[in-house]
Amino acid sequence: MMALWEFQYIFHNTSGLSVTLGLLLLGLLYWYSVRPFSVLSRNGIKHPKPLPFFGNLFMFRQGFFNPLNDLIKTHGRVCGYYLGRKPVVVVADPEMLRQVMVKDFSSFPNRMSLRFITKPMSDCLLMLRNERWKRVRSILTPAFSASKMKEMVPLINTATDALIKNLDAFAESAEAFNIHKCFGCFTMDVVASVAFGTQVDSQNNCDDPFVRHAQLFFSFNFFRPIMLFFAAFPSLAAPLVGIIPNKKRDDMNHFFIRTIQKIIKQREEQPPEQRRRDFLQLMLDARTSDESVSIEHFDTAHPVGEAHNRSEQNQDNQVGPQERPQMKMITEDEIVGQAFVFLVAGYETSSNTLAFACYLLAINPECQRELQKEVDHFFTRHESPDYTNVQELKYLDMVISETLRLYPPGFRFAREIERDCVVNGQSFPKGATFEIPAGFLHRDPEHWPDPDKFIPERFTPEAKASRHPFVYIPFGAGPRNCVGMRLAQLEMKMALVRLFRRFNLLACTETKVPLELKSSSTLGPKNGVFVKIERRHWDESQVNSPSED
Ligand code: HEM
Repeated sequence: MMALWEFQYIFHNTSGLSVTLGLLLLGLLYWYSVRPFSVLSRNGIKHPKPLPFFGNLFMFRQGFFNPLNDLIKTHGRVCGYYLGRKPVVVVADPEMLRQVMVKDFSSFPNRMSLRFITKPMSDCLLMLRNERWKRVRSILTPAFSASKMKEMVPLINTATDALIKNLDAFAESAEAFNIHKCFGCFTMDVVASVAFGTQVDSQNNCDDPFVRHAQLFFSFNFFRPIMLFFAAFPSLAAPLVGIIPNKKRDDMNHFFIRTIQKIIKQREEQPPEQRRRDFLQLMLDARTSDESVSIEHFDTAHPVGEAHNRSEQNQDNQVGPQERPQMKMITEDEIVGQAFVFLVAGYETSSNTLAFACYLLAINPECQRELQKEVDHFFTRHESPDYTNVQELKYLDMVISETLRLYPPGFRFAREIERDCVVNGQSFPKGATFEIPAGFLHRDPEHWPDPDKFIPERFTPEAKASRHPFVYIPFGAGPRNCVGMRLAQLEMKMALVRLFRRFNLLACTETKVPLELKSSSTLGPKNGVFVKIERRHWDESQVNSPSED
């Protein structure tokens, strides 16, 4: 009897203790789940109400483009949200953006760090930080110079030949087809050729191992349960990513690493004059060349003068403008990382822009005719497009600019806020992400009359000069802007000039207007772009025909 009583006493006390401990644990967990959610309001930054653990993450289940625009419309041009536990400040004020991206660059040199990435992604320029970023960027930038771009023309032309041939088959069939898919294959061929030294015809050979592995990269979904877990417990991400098996990811990483290593070995065994001229070779050559550029020349999209007072801001030992000579060193891992960046940063962005441009020209036939007039005139002077002569195509340039205004693939990008600071009177908390909503700025009615209309003439030199330069930033701005801009423009112009010389694009019943968008990473057409295509009947005697056509 005594023993039973003792048992009940102990049991009662232990379960009481367990309940107390349980409650304490729950309390702690709740405190952990909501603890970060006061930082934005403490800095006077308006935001929607966050959920414990996940913040406002679920607002973006269907993508970021529309929810971000709605967020700014509701909470103002400086507002915020919580991506999991991470506070994000969204700034759609062009003067503040100029301050952060250019004038005060040395205080904001990095993008936000991602804890779950692995090699080769972790070595690519997009992800590198501080001095390491600066060293690699200064080596990589000369590879994108005008003279080096000229060397890429034959490689891009070969990929364009395959594109035109494929489009010819669709013209023959007279059926509606998804032109976004054709551009996906075209840009994949370009990436494989210029960055990986590999010739593929992805349109006709989807089983090519390069194409299969590249597609794996783009099948990633942020709303998988494991990613939601990492959003709620970010400090567990780094240790767990190395342990949790992920066969798809590992296969893909190993494939690209092995491909590059094999080619590097082959190139080293070849005499220099027999080596293929591509970006991979330019990077390999960069190891022994004297060429490297200083930080003032990283931003090819905006004049050097923009950076005038960066030096006033350089107070720490991070990336700064005082020009210490850069070490000319790039490791094999870094070369693999930079080849990989062509895929990560150059594939979807370029193919989406091409598809958007064709969609807009199909539904605006008068602009298409204007472009064709320019293109026909171009071919009376030139046999085929190259780096220098495509600069003459002013209307095409305006069409691409206006396409990138309405549908910028890089519609949001970021800088990390590394310490508490005040920019133009607004305070920003250390550890938050500074987000630049290019997609919103590009349609802000305060700067763009009739913002949803396709009007290429918005990009005449006079119209451009009359606007604040930071309301249009499809390639970013400042030293951390898009290093591949020139390549992207060359590739897109070479494809479009040959396409519109040979074909008319027609909107048809299958063309979805307005287009449905996906925006979980880049902005792209959600279900492709369906159009019809027909051969043009130009008078062949009036134009020099390029040999490939
Ligand atoms: C239409 C095509 C493209 C668009 C719209 C685009 C857009 C962008 C944007 C918005 C950024 C962020 C800029 C910033 O943070 O200020 C960026 C960065 C970058 N892009 Fe592009 N991009 C395109 C094509 C390419 C291509 C073809 C490459 C080829 C290598 C490339 C390589 C990069 C790299 C490496 C960065 C990071 C630069 C750094 O951190 O130093 N991009 N791009």
